[in-house]
Amino acid sequence: MLTDKFNRKIDYLRISVTDRCNLRCIYCVPSLGFIQKKHDEILRFEEILKLLTVFVSLGIKKIKITGGEPLFRKGIIDFIAKVFNINAIKDVSITTNGILLKDYAYALRKTGLRRLNISIDTLDKDKFRYITGADKLREVLDGLNEVRKLKFSPVKINTVVIRGINDDEILDFARLSIENPYEIRFIEYMPTQNSIGWDKDKFISSAEIKAKLMVFGKLYKTDHITGAGHAQYFKFQGALGTIGVISPVSNSFCSKCNKLRLTADGKLKLCLHSSKQVDLKTPLRANASFNELKDMIISGINLKPEGNYLEKHSFPEYSKNIMCQIGG
Ligand code: 5AD
Ligand code: SF4
Repeated sequence: MLTDKFNRKIDYLRISVTDRCNLRCIYCVPSLGFIQKKHDEILRFEEILKLLTVFVSLGIKKIKITGGEPLFRKGIIDFIAKVFNINAIKDVSITTNGILLKDYAYALRKTGLRRLNISIDTLDKDKFRYITGADKLREVLDGLNEVRKLKFSPVKINTVVIRGINDDEILDFARLSIENPYEIRFIEYMPTQNSIGWDKDKFISSAEIKAKLMVFGKLYKTDHITGAGHAQYFKFQGALGTIGVISPVSNSFCSKCNKLRLTADGKLKLCLHSSKQVDLKTPLRANASFNELKDMIISGINLKPEGNYLEKHSFPEYSKNIMCQIGG
């Protein structure tokens, strides 16, 4: 089992398989654009699988496939099936924007995949176009219906709450959790390098989100935890689904962080909000041995910071991280 110098057990790897996306969410893609990695800079699936054998030997048991948009990468279904074939991996899930889900859901389910996160920030067609740059809410909702039919579980809906943009829809999302077996996860808006910028006025704390939810009815705490335990879970009486509130800013869960991230171009990232990273692609392509790669990962863990310090609300500079290159 991997343990870092702050005694956190690391058993979870988020793999970004592409920095490309079929949407341009205002809080994700920098307004001035960013330089997409060239094709040959991106790890091939065989390279990711090779690195995975090293990660697994170090105790990684849980995998999240992210992007950009992971379903936008050719060959993704085959890749996921191969990840499922690795014995030591007990848990695989994917975070998708849902645009291609209707077409891919069946093939995804056949790989063995059950767990799924779909990012949906609004249920309003026009607002969806404003946030994502595309008129495709229908596609996402069709995808959501399809995964429900195919009995994916849990189906988690990630909603980043931004004041003045979608905070008026908190109750609509709550209703969705009453009528459907979904986990609606309200996520505090984190500062990253993005087009609308982050400022205190756009930020809504999880406490405020909870207060807004309580207008709807009594919220019962539940310990129904299906993830790493970073969300607080609630339920309305008689609801089919649950509500999760995730507070990366107001109540950081860094002390319980069990994650590593692998970027599409083969960098091991130690924290979403830190630029500390270790290049694994260069040694991999220079035929580094299994043990050499293992040592690089182990020494990389020492760079994992204790916390993200987002709670201080005094950002000397926004995180240099471009979300669509890391996948959250
Ligand atoms: N704050 C909070 N969540 C974010 N995500 C992307 N950018 C931010 C941000 N600035 C979320 C997306 C998606 C996941 C991959 O990360 O909504 O659900
Ligand atoms: Fe939007 Fe996710 Fe694509 Fe970023 S990666 S633009 S959040 S859909």
